[in-house]
Amino acid sequence: MRIVLVGPPGAGKGTQAAYLAKNLAIPHISTGDLFRANISQGTPLGQKAQEYMRAGQLVPDEVTIGMAKDRMQQADAAHGFLLDGFPRNLAQAEALDEILKADGLGLDAVLDLEVPEDEVVKRIAGRRMCRKDSSHIFHVIYNPPAAEGVCDVCGGELYQREDDSEETVRKRLEVYHSETEPIIDYYKAQGLVVTISALGKVAEVTQRAMGALPSRE
Ligand code: AP5
Ligand code: ZN
Repeated sequence: MRIVLVGPPGAGKGTQAAYLAKNLAIPHISTGDLFRANISQGTPLGQKAQEYMRAGQLVPDEVTIGMAKDRMQQADAAHGFLLDGFPRNLAQAEALDEILKADGLGLDAVLDLEVPEDEVVKRIAGRRMCRKDSSHIFHVIYNPPAAEGVCDVCGGELYQREDDSEETVRKRLEVYHSETEPIIDYYKAQGLVVTISALGKVAEVTQRAMGALPSRE
């Protein structure tokens, strides 16, 4: 299955992607995680991306599309993937269609996670991420680690993302509405959009998503 996950910052895309990718046995590809890995390794791509991420803006398409394409080729798109955070504007959505079309492939579904803005703000304010593995995501109230600042899964250090400050979150939400939301209509026209509420417990949302996705052939 080839699935795109969309939803505002803090909707729970990364959290859900970890479970969905496991359930569906497909790789989870997050452009945000790829950028953060490049930043922590100090690569030229990371240096370029960091200034945009700090400001809550999109990293330019010429950087992002090439990086996403390389990662999809590594994963072998024919066997499926779960894209999280890509595409994020119409140009990226069109580029993705072209990349897949070149191999005679297409998407199976676009899973749209719906969450009210006040909930998103609460989720981001309490988020803590693991330095060792970006799929280990915690929340100081909703999903607290057993020991403060330490990842339950691998013992890694937990940290707060630099772009999770109130001001940057406001900018990210603005960018989501103006640049990313239009891709939902683009995919609706292709009959691919499945919208679910992302409220409730993490496991409930996973179950809702699994029930809403088209069945595997
Ligand atoms: P990215 O990393 O993709 O960030 P985002 O889209 O803003 O999404 P988040 O990671 O903030 O949230 P999420 O939906 O994954 O929520 P999470 O599961 O962590 O992008 C960051 C930046 O990179 C962008 O701003 C941009 O600069 C750049 N970038 C990335 N892709 C790009 C692209 N394609 N083009 C250009 N630029 C790009 O959950 C949030 C919190 O809520 C956690 O604490 C979690 O524990 C908690 N939580 C989750 N589910 C629940 C629940 N059901 N109940 C209670 N709490 C919950
Ligand atoms: Zn960890």
